[in-house]
Amino acid sequence: PVSRSSVVSMKSSSIRIGLLGCGNVGAALVQLLTEQHESVKRRTGLDLSIEAIAVKDLDKDRSIPLPDEVFTTDSASIVNNPEIDLIIEVMGNIEPARELILQALNLGKSVVTANKELLAAHGAELYSAAENSGVDLLFEAAVAGGIPIVRPLRESLAGEPITQIRGIINGTTNFILSRMSQDGVSFNEALKEAQELGFAELDSTYDVEGYDAGAKVAIIATLAFGVEVTSQDVQHEGISKITVEDIKFANRLGYCIKLLAAAEQKVNENGNSEVGARVYPALVPLSHPLAAVNGSFNAVFVEGDAVGELMFYGPGAGGRPTASAVFGDVIDAAGNLQRSHGALIGALDKPNMISPENLESPFYLNLKVEDQPGVLAQVAEVFGNHGVSIQSMEQEGMGSEARLIFITHSSREKDLFSTINSLNSLSVVSSVDSVLRVIGD
Ligand code: HSE
Repeated sequence: PVSRSSVVSMKSSSIRIGLLGCGNVGAALVQLLTEQHESVKRRTGLDLSIEAIAVKDLDKDRSIPLPDEVFTTDSASIVNNPEIDLIIEVMGNIEPARELILQALNLGKSVVTANKELLAAHGAELYSAAENSGVDLLFEAAVAGGIPIVRPLRESLAGEPITQIRGIINGTTNFILSRMSQDGVSFNEALKEAQELGFAELDSTYDVEGYDAGAKVAIIATLAFGVEVTSQDVQHEGISKITVEDIKFANRLGYCIKLLAAAEQKVNENGNSEVGARVYPALVPLSHPLAAVNGSFNAVFVEGDAVGELMFYGPGAGGRPTASAVFGDVIDAAGNLQRSHGALIGALDKPNMISPENLESPFYLNLKVEDQPGVLAQVAEVFGNHGVSIQSMEQEGMGSEARLIFITHSSREKDLFSTINSLNSLSVVSSVDSVLRVIGD
């Protein structure tokens, strides 16, 4: 083992870094690298220096402690510069990030990225390019901000037969739902706050409609199951249709509402392995650990045959926590450059995807109905005709305001959606306003 004193006396090795993008995460990263420079050098022997930063607008004030000459608008010149050893990409979007990263990897430079959208769409191409060049492509910050989840899935759990992963992996929507539920703040007001605090994406529909969590769960499923899952394979629903009323009813029944992401692998009746990945809002029992994950915090539960259940919890969004994850990868990749080898992901096959209509869960339904004798009997009969069993029912309001709130036992989606079709054709049902999945204890 290396003793503390030999670490301290280690010869320092200079690693020159090019940074592509300098928004929230990029600026926090420069700050962190500057603050920690001496400490990292002392502990690892790595002398990390930022040689160049690519930005869109040279005139923007970034309060970054580096000379003006470091900044350029020419990203390709940084990637092609033979003096630069390592590229950090925090610019976001697919192009030109994809081309720049491919070029860097082909030139034998290691790359650290936080770009979930890119990895969820073109991960396999990039992982192969890194493998072919024998360099690192590291992306801890792409999933769940500051929480270390990528490295545990790639390394610590590499031998674990993982069956299911479930969690809250979008900070913005979790922040919005927490504010709506705990403080009665409206959806739009809570979204505005999330934008001001720097959690939300530039296009907030990417968070609100579940695309962000969809990209992250595609990356998680790829790592956990060793097959190529892209964002196109993920079914996603967002939270824009959740009302304060739904949250109130759910609370009264002992639940909160969370935007969940789930990935699973199982063997179907023909003996073939299938993978599922989805994002959806669900009722979570107030006693469940996910119910305690509030604000912009994220949590990921990993379930494996051997290890049982693991929970990873922490800040899932925001500049400094995300920069912390990027920084860890930079130190790892820089150390590997010094030792001249990379940490790789092997070739990926395409999985069989689970048919969504065969998935099962309990459901919450909120129906606007006529308030007359016999209505409940007609409605209950429809559930029974489709093989959907009712766990609980409450009437809310009276007369023209009457609503029936149901929670079902676990049912196949196929049966639940044919129940909803039949309910919509009943004259006593004015509308089926909300349908949400419920998570068991
Ligand atoms: N907009 C993302 C979120 C940031 O809210 O979780 C981290 O990817």
